[in-house]
Amino acid sequence: MLVIFWTVKKKEAIQRIETLRKELNSHNHNYYVLNNPVITDFEYDILMNELQQLEKMYPESYSADSPTQKVGSDLSSDGVQQGFAQCRHKYPMLSLSNTYDLQELYAFNERISKATEKSWTYNCELKFDGTAICLTYVNGSLERALTRGDGTVGDDVTQNVRQIASIPHRLKEGSGYPAEFEIRGEIFMPYVAFDKLNYQRELDEDPPFANPRNAAAGSLKLLDSKQISDRGLECTLYHLIAPERDFKTHTEALKEAASWGLPVSEFSKECNSIDEIAAYINEWDSRRKTLPFATDGIVIKVNQLDLQRSLGFTAKSPRWATAYKFKAEEALTKLLSIDYQVGRTGAITPVANLEPVQLSGTVVKRASLHNSEQMEALDIHLGDYVYVEKGGEIIPKITRVEFGKRLPEAVKAEFPKNCPDCGTPLVKDEDEAKSFCPNSDFCPMQQKGKFIHFISRKAMNINAGEATIEQLYSKGYIKELSDLYKLTSKELATLDKWKEKSISNFLNSLEESKQNPFHKVLFGLGIRYIGETTAKNLAGRFGNIDSLMQADREQLLATEEVGEKLADSIMGYFANPAHIKMIEELRSAGLIFSEEQDHKGSLSETLTGKTLVVSGVFSISREELKKYIESHGGKIGSSISKNTDYLVAGEKSGESKMQKAQKLGVQVISEDELYLLTENKPLLTLF
Ligand code: IVH
Repeated sequence: MLVIFWTVKKKEAIQRIETLRKELNSHNHNYYVLNNPVITDFEYDILMNELQQLEKMYPESYSADSPTQKVGSDLSSDGVQQGFAQCRHKYPMLSLSNTYDLQELYAFNERISKATEKSWTYNCELKFDGTAICLTYVNGSLERALTRGDGTVGDDVTQNVRQIASIPHRLKEGSGYPAEFEIRGEIFMPYVAFDKLNYQRELDEDPPFANPRNAAAGSLKLLDSKQISDRGLECTLYHLIAPERDFKTHTEALKEAASWGLPVSEFSKECNSIDEIAAYINEWDSRRKTLPFATDGIVIKVNQLDLQRSLGFTAKSPRWATAYKFKAEEALTKLLSIDYQVGRTGAITPVANLEPVQLSGTVVKRASLHNSEQMEALDIHLGDYVYVEKGGEIIPKITRVEFGKRLPEAVKAEFPKNCPDCGTPLVKDEDEAKSFCPNSDFCPMQQKGKFIHFISRKAMNINAGEATIEQLYSKGYIKELSDLYKLTSKELATLDKWKEKSISNFLNSLEESKQNPFHKVLFGLGIRYIGETTAKNLAGRFGNIDSLMQADREQLLATEEVGEKLADSIMGYFANPAHIKMIEELRSAGLIFSEEQDHKGSLSETLTGKTLVVSGVFSISREELKKYIESHGGKIGSSISKNTDYLVAGEKSGESKMQKAQKLGVQVISEDELYLLTENKPLLTLF
């Protein structure tokens, strides 16, 4: 009996190990490659801890591939495609073990005491929340800068790093630097620069970065180095590797590095005991809130370099260092009211208006409440004092209510039963916790949202903003998307402060938008669940709007990334005669509704006479991509030769193809760059 129980438990544990490994790998990808984590560091650390414990209990599950055994990789899936060469690290670039528990620091101390008879000290430093960098200086000049990559191989970002003002290109002459050495540290973005960047991104309709770390990591991988100097990145260095110099301690080494002109943190402290370390941690847990940049913990390092060497490394981190991580900062503030926002697809999102409060360097006035279930779980009342925390997303979240501060007369926040904009009873999707307003054709917020989506940069790229749509809509000039193309100068002249120049700019932009390829028009229609990639897939597979309209469920489902929900949504959309009429009007206005037309139109012949070889995995199937190329006049080549014009390299495109292309001087472009080419737009990078 016991054996059966044990076997079942073991089977479950092994399954859980597999699940955790998959989840953690996917979180690593979101964090290190996409710079867009979907969970907080704390949530990630809990999963990692669970995996470590299970692997300890079931050593037979060991795998060198487990996320417990290797550092999360920031390598762009294909170095060449992304514009960065990859380069091997001279010494592996590892991560740090971490804890949220002071008691574990005593255990860390205990392990070290077992390894030595001699006395030792620690150096405590801030844990900068940015992205790791490894710099090599040769004869006083910055020779190379590599990201951590997968710890063995990093992306060569030297060009970009040269644009960061605090990193010297040349060290101080005569300061005694070694002929060749490596120094590692963190590139980070101070809060001021982060706010400025996000403000600009919002104006440009680019998605804002959720936090300064993502912004720093994303900026470091920009393909155009010229943009870097404006991003306000900074650097602090914390690990010198200079074997030819016989430094005794880490503090001595860093002091020397500072004297060569390198940026080294001024906030570190040598400590003699864990109690001293605890005091340093306590001090910084509050002081960090006054720093102009983000820190997420304290790094504790054995100071004596000979002891560091004898302690060595595990597969993933040094045994001579660990990080004590601060719990995410939270702030207590008053909930003033709740807005129920209606999105363009009718989804209702509750957003809390808060008494402004300082949190991790920025003032927070709003926080997400996600949906009715979340509100119910929090048991939120108007006027409550609530804790807010910054998670993986851009808008902070409310984590809990301070029940002790609730007034007896406080009224429970009720999720509305009707649309706050048009009054239609809301419906709830069975598999989603979200509530929707089903009145998509008449609900004013949804209608305005549709126009805002249609004119957005990724769709029709029409030169207008939300305020213009607001006015055009409230004046009754636009009801259907097609009404945009019927606007007259006389009508536009009635808009607030609009003069001849703004009118002609807007009309020109409308005219230019007619040249947009079919997939952009399709995306712009705002059919629920059709994102940018799905629009490309559908355009590639069906070729034109008529075939798409006539497609049955089966045909739709046979398209890549089209599932039941999307198929229903597409069929529902085209079953509405008002939509068909509107599409006909857009067609008569001159918008492009077929790939064929793209190809015939002046913009689309850009690939005529060109031979393209495709390699790797793309957002659409290879067949669809080939069709796309052919429909734009291009020829598909089977192998790279000197007659090839472009190699379109997707993910996992083979190294040998890349090398051959480079050898023969064939231009390597990404899938997105192919679309730029077919739209006659300049490429971002030339390889
Ligand atoms: S020492 C082998 N010191 O935190 C030495 N790392 O979560 C490892 N970090 O990968 C690095 N501040 O990117 C060190 N003062 C500091 C640090 C620091 C931030 C980063 C570093 C590391 C990560 C681990």
